[in-house]
Amino acid sequence: MRKTIIAGNWKMNGTVPESTALIGGILNAGVAGGKVEIVVCPPFTALESAGKLLKDSGIGLGAQNMSEHKSGAYTAEISAEMLLTLGVTHTILGHSERRQYHFETDDRVNRAAKAALAAGLTPIICVGETLEQRDSGDTEKTVGDQIAGTLAGFAADLLKKTVVAYEPVWAIGTGKTATPEMAEDVHRFIRGKIAALDKEAANLVPILYGGSVKLGNAGGLLTQPNIDGALVGGASLKVDDFVGIINAL
Ligand code: 13P
Repeated sequence: MRKTIIAGNWKMNGTVPESTALIGGILNAGVAGGKVEIVVCPPFTALESAGKLLKDSGIGLGAQNMSEHKSGAYTAEISAEMLLTLGVTHTILGHSERRQYHFETDDRVNRAAKAALAAGLTPIICVGETLEQRDSGDTEKTVGDQIAGTLAGFAADLLKKTVVAYEPVWAIGTGKTATPEMAEDVHRFIRGKIAALDKEAANLVPILYGGSVKLGNAGGLLTQPNIDGALVGGASLKVDDFVGIINAL
């Protein structure tokens, strides 16, 4: 019923030649066109070459962020239209590293997600609590507020085209993963929040898990009923690991 998505967030890794090699490896592995939707999110500088390689491959191409504005005096920003012309299909929004180091807010993510959807791009909206918030029992409050803020004012038809990623901040790049049960609890909670906005959309929106996903833990996480895929960081930079996670499904 829901799509299963494995997306690789390369973060600030990969020159153009390195990106080309990595995409070549994924294409050679022959994993495209199966039941899993695959998306790779290289840095902006590698999107053009990646777009050419991935054209007609069945593998989606994601940006790691996007401006909420159409064009104009926004130095260093990248618009939806610029991404579309490179063959981009998805954009990550509100990643915790953007929230932490670049002070992005739910409001900004909300506006950027609306701009992405209006342009025909699929937003992958990231939410997740810090260790401090989890330890003080504020996981649901934090994630619930992020969902309410980032999805505010979404009509049902837009909601249905959105992807959400739950990435507990304490599990990103730390080697600490939420147990399948811990992750499933939050995914179920998120789906409930989306259901309060629109029941039908809640059944359709894929909710991905992110945070130290690797070959060894992907199977346990991805068999949970409300976990519809993964947003993979470090392990998406190695062909064997990324392809292994896809094949684990
Ligand atoms: P890691 O898989 O390296 O923990 O990163 C997760 C992430 O932030 C994906 O967006």
